[in-house]
Amino acid sequence: MKENYILLKKILRKNRNELTIAGDFVKKYFQEIEKINLDDKKIINGIKKNLKNKNHLYYLIKFRKQIVGLIHLFLKKRSADLCLIYILPEFRRKGFGTLVLKKIFKKLKNKNIKNLKIEIYKNNKASIKFFTKLGAKLYSYIYYLKV
Ligand SMILES: CC(C)(COP(=O)(O)OP(=O)(O)OC[C@H]1O[C@@H](n2cnc3c(N)ncnc32)[C@H](O)[C@@H]1OP(=O)(O)O)[C@@H](O)C(=O)NCCC(=O)NCCS
Repeated sequence: MKENYILLKKILRKNRNELTIAGDFVKKYFQEIEKINLDDKKIINGIKKNLKNKNHLYYLIKFRKQIVGLIHLFLKKRSADLCLIYILPEFRRKGFGTLVLKKIFKKLKNKNIKNLKIEIYKNNKASIKFFTKLGAKLYSYIYYLKV
């Protein structure tokens, strides 16, 4: 699949329709990966709050006329955090995630950002395989203690 098959549509704070769609993807992500059911309003308010800061970038991932996923980044001075990437289950393993990341790499390079940080749950095997295939290297472990 070629890179121009997909389009990244930057979400604007004032576009309620885009915010609703983005909120729905965030909700799906939390339900599937973190097994948490978040309140729709809280999600949308969270996105709106983030979008007040121009370093938070949300893009809807479009393929033909369909919206197939969402990506959320947070830009820092020399690096960026990949806060979330979500592709709808029926569109997975078709190369969309890879294309999206390639497009994002180009955007980051243009901003002179050379590192992208991703936190992945250790049981999220699909995601680990996905990022490893893209060349991601394990950098640190996070441990939690019960208090
Ligand atoms: C992780 C995710 C974004 C990958 O998107 P995708 O469009 O399916 O990825 P691609 O089709 O580009 O896959 C590229 C490669 O990654 C690996 N991969 C992707 N999904 C995989 C899976 N479920 N099992 C094993 N390997 C997988 C494969 O090597 C694949 O290449 P192949 O299909 O030729 O074997 C998608 O599975 C997703 O949205 N998951 C739920 C949300 C999530 O966990 N996000 C990441 C943390 S924020």
